[in-house]
Formats: sequence, C-alpha cells, structure tokens
Amino acid sequence: MSYEIKLLFTVLVVVGLMQLQTLVVAEPQVPCYFIFRDALVDSGNNNKLVTAGKANYLPYGIDFPQGVTGRFTNGRTIADIIGQFLGFPNFIPPYALATDQQISTGVNYGSAYAGIRQETGRTEGERVTFDMQLQNHEAVISRLSRLQQNNTFTQDYLKTCIYLVNIGSDDYINNYLMPNNYPTSHIYTTGQYAAVLTQQYSQQLTKDCRVWFGFDRCAPTEITRFSTDGKTCVESINSAVGLFNDRLKPVVDMLNSEVLPNVACCQVRAFDGQCIPNSVPCPVRALSLWYDGFHPTETVNTIFATRSYSALSAMDASPYDISHLARL
Ligand SMILES: *[C@@H]1O[C@H](CO)[C@@H](O)[C@H](O)[C@H]1NC(C)=O
Repeated sequence: MSYEIKLLFTVLVVVGLMQLQTLVVAEPQVPCYFIFRDALVDSGNNNKLVTAGKANYLPYGIDFPQGVTGRFTNGRTIADIIGQFLGFPNFIPPYALATDQQISTGVNYGSAYAGIRQETGRTEGERVTFDMQLQNHEAVISRLSRLQQNNTFTQDYLKTCIYLVNIGSDDYINNYLMPNNYPTSHIYTTGQYAAVLTQQYSQQLTKDCRVWFGFDRCAPTEITRFSTDGKTCVESINSAVGLFNDRLKPVVDMLNSEVLPNVACCQVRAFDGQCIPNSVPCPVRALSLWYDGFHPTETVNTIFATRSYSALSAMDASPYDISHLARL
C-alpha cells in the first residue's frame, strides 16, 4: 500500500515595491528582510513565553549550525533559507533578541501558534499573535528612526525591504479544527470562516508586504486526529483550507510523493504533537517530510523556500517569485 502525500503549498505574493540600487556581488540583494508568521519561522521568540509551544530543546536544532535556538525543525526554517538565497550572511535575529545594531537588516517576529485571530493557539499558552507582531514591527520602526535620525530616510529605507508574511495555518489547526476548544466552527461555516479570516488579514496587511502562505493539512498529528483511515490527508481540512486559499487566489503547489511516509521523525508527545524533549529522532532526517507532528524537516523547508524564491511553475508564486521581487 502506498502513502500519498500531498502538501498544499500556497505562495501568495502581494506587493507594493521597492527599488533596488546596483547589485554588488556578496551584498544581499535587498538591504533588509522582515519576517512574520508562526512556528514555521519562529527562531526563538517563544523561548521566554509561558507556553508549551516552544522548541528550545533537543532534538530540535539537531542539524542547525547553532544547535538549539527555538526553531521547530531539525535545521533551517523556510525563512532562514530564503534569507540565504537573498544573500544575507547571517540569519535574521528573532525580535526577542534583536539588538539595535541588527535591526537595520531585519527582524524575525514569528511566533509558534500565532494566528490572524487573537484567540488562535491560546490553549497552548502565550504566543505573539499577528496583531502583536505588527505592533512589534512598529516598535522596531521607532527604534530604527531614532538610530537613523531621519524619518524620511527611514521610511524610504523600509520600502526597500522584503517582508515575508505567512500566517493563517494556526487559525485552522489551532482554532477552527478544534471544536472542543474554540467556538469558531460552531459560529461559522467553512466559507464564512475563510471570508472572516481574509477580511481581517487584508486589514492587517500593509502595502509593502510580500505575502506567502502555507498550510500543514497533512501533518502527522492532524492525520491522527481527523483522518478516517489514519493515513490519508484529511479531506475536511483540505476543503476548509482550500476555501481560504481560493479566496486569496494565490498559488497552489501540490507535492505528491509515493516514497516518503507521513510520519514524524521525532517521537511526539500526544497533547500537541511536538517532539518529546531529549528523545532520539530518526537517523536519516534528509528523507523525512515531518520533523514533529506538525512541522516539516529542513528538507521540506528547502523545497518550499527554493520554489518560493525561484518558481518552477506559474503555480508556485503569484504574481512574482521572491527572486523576481528582489530584482524589481
Ligand atoms: C533625510 O533623508 C532624505 C532621504 O534620504 C534626504 O534627502 C535628506 O537630505 C535627509 N535629511 C537630512 C537632514 O540629512
């Protein structure tokens, strides 16, 4: 019996853009790169919060150059890899640790369990919601203005940055699809919920962002919870998330594989699908799709980052891939 793996990957790129000066080899393609989202990019913002939703323990980070940092994967995140494609020599620091010297090249605001909606992820504990991430960005802009001592300059500078915004999966996984903990599925049909999310999201977005979406509907823990046969991707998630995707009309990339099973590489704990602290992960991580019950391995992050940066088909990115944006 073969397993069918479908990862729905959506790249939505909305933009008001930046102009770039001359490119010098070894310089990043853009001067600054700001990152918003959830666990797929969190690089330590949750470490000091009161939550089980943090990954600052082994076996997370086992293949990352700096080891354990709070990243929810074995190695680099999607945001890390895109940053390297853009030519940044260092990883963009998490907001929780970013110094004044560092903020001019960008900040990573991502927080595990963050959603578009305020209540999303609350059963897991504290997290930096998308609204709070936007407030943190305002605070960084103030710091930058103080440092650069010229508001006009700072405003112009911020227009040259790349903004990676990719949020919304937790509004399903840790909200709508948990009817015992959250009321949304009793209040809204899937269509209404997609509309509500889309509306709130478009209000939160600013013009200068490139937006990028991904959903984790075939995550192992999700399959255990909802799948009828315990193997295949969950149809109700597919259709609920599909509506949201359709509305935003981004791009959908289906990665089908008959080879790699939908099982987590590390041993996961039952209540939230994260790795059991200090458990021994699978040895050949390069051949696993999922590191824990919800979060992909560096292998998958590399595939998604590569196709977001350099689209292989018109389905990968809309209207531009990131390499194209960086050159505009
Ligand atoms: C502030 O920055 C703008 C835009 O870069 C520049 O034109 C202007 O001369 C700067 N003002 C001062 C006082 O340096």
